[in-house]
Amino acid sequence: MADFDLAGRVAMVTGASRGIGRGIALELARAGASVAVTARRVGDLAGTVREIEAAGSRALAVVLEVRDRASIRAAADAVGAALGPVDVLVNNAGVQRLRHALDVTEEDWDFVLDTNLRGLFFCCQEIGRRMVERGRGKIVNVSSAAGMIPSAERAAYASSKAAVLMLTRVLAVEWAARGVTVNAVAPTFVETELAAQTLDRPGAREATLARIPLRRLATVEDVAAAVRYLASPAADYLTGTTIGVDGGLVMR
Ligand SMILES: NC(=O)c1ccc[n+]([C@@H]2O[C@H](COP(=O)([O-])OP(=O)(O)OC[C@H]3O[C@@H](n4cnc5c(N)ncnc54)[C@H](OP(=O)(O)O)[C@@H]3O)[C@@H](O)[C@H]2O)c1
Repeated sequence: MADFDLAGRVAMVTGASRGIGRGIALELARAGASVAVTARRVGDLAGTVREIEAAGSRALAVVLEVRDRASIRAAADAVGAALGPVDVLVNNAGVQRLRHALDVTEEDWDFVLDTNLRGLFFCCQEIGRRMVERGRGKIVNVSSAAGMIPSAERAAYASSKAAVLMLTRVLAVEWAARGVTVNAVAPTFVETELAAQTLDRPGAREATLARIPLRRLATVEDVAAAVRYLASPAADYLTGTTIGVDGGLVMR
């Protein structure tokens, strides 16, 4: 029988104070995992912690700035000391700045790439090193349909998300023999603060829905379900793959 249970496992989710990360953290808790939730503003994690504890699991709020390697190391140490070694790492923290390519500044580019790609890589490296030493672990990276389909105003964002898909595959190849799987999810629009930058523009919501074969946006729960699967024993034989949580958008 397929095993989607995470009882006894320790999960760490970046960007878990709101939106998709919060939903992922809650779903992993419902699956039985103890969950370390992280964000830059640690005070914003209180709601996620409450929800996890209400679901009957252990929660730990840890401050983490993914652009700072010392912060990543300190967060990994704090989680290890309080909950034990991380079995599941979900790299969800991400940012977007909508800009026409001609207007992108160096600061825009660095902000987006340093968070979405560099930060994600060094989280993989820090936690991945510990997983490799133990000979087990699962990493799930949150990419985006924007990393597969070109769309205007996303030079930095789409580049970062496409790179995450390749990075996922490179790490999967390197760590497969060490007991660590690395997979990704690539959602289409989910109603969050990040997506509101696009969806709140006049006509944008209708135009987006018209392109999605299933004719609705993704929900936080749709994404969290795919992450739970990739984090669970049921997905032991998957590595280097991407689940498109996109209502059929990318197949078109
Ligand atoms: N929403 C969508 O339509 C959509 C679609 C496809 C993919 N995605 C991806 O899904 C992920 C989550 O998106 P979302 O829509 O849920 O975003 P969101 O609502 O803006 O939440 C972003 C989370 O990341 C944290 N964060 C941002 N910068 C950080 C940093 N430098 N270090 C550590 N944590 C940081 C934020 O907390 P703090 O600000 O306190 O740090 C927050 O918890 C992102 O990777 C995004 O690209 C979103």
